[in-house]
Amino acid sequence: MQITKYIFPVHGDDRGQLVALENFHEVPFEIKRVYYMYDTVAGVTRGYHAHKSLEQILICVHGSCKIRLDNGQEKETVLLDKPYEGLYVSNVMWREMYDFSPDAVLLVLASELYDEKDYIRNYDDFLHYIHETEGGNRQ
Ligand code: TYD
Repeated sequence: MQITKYIFPVHGDDRGQLVALENFHEVPFEIKRVYYMYDTVAGVTRGYHAHKSLEQILICVHGSCKIRLDNGQEKETVLLDKPYEGLYVSNVMWREMYDFSPDAVLLVLASELYDEKDYIRNYDDFLHYIHETEGGNRQ
């Protein structure tokens, strides 16, 4: 499976660091929604879903966490521990987020507004969806 990790430009100077992200520039889609997770309880795994259309960039802006990606055929685990790195998560990709450090803040940039209809929350449904849409637009 191809993992796309963006290394964002850091505008650092003697005052500190700054990262700027713009639609279709550092981020390959129009950002319609931003959300973030923090104070994640030790040992918790979040996610356990895929999206039919949504694309996302995950940035651990503080602390660290791990992301397990699964395209229905292959699984990969990615460590996010740098505020200038973004993991691209395509549509039709099962994701689980875990091993959050106590200070972790996981920021998500999303290509669509929140839409429960875009979620696939059952793993068997995910595999069926891939099978049904084979030859379609999955990445
Ligand atoms: P949830 O989908 O369980 O998060 P994850 O799967 O990433 O661990 O979302 C937790 C709650 O937050 C749930 O009640 C839905 C709500 N929510 C929104 O209202 N807007 C959003 O953009 C997101 C991602 C979640």
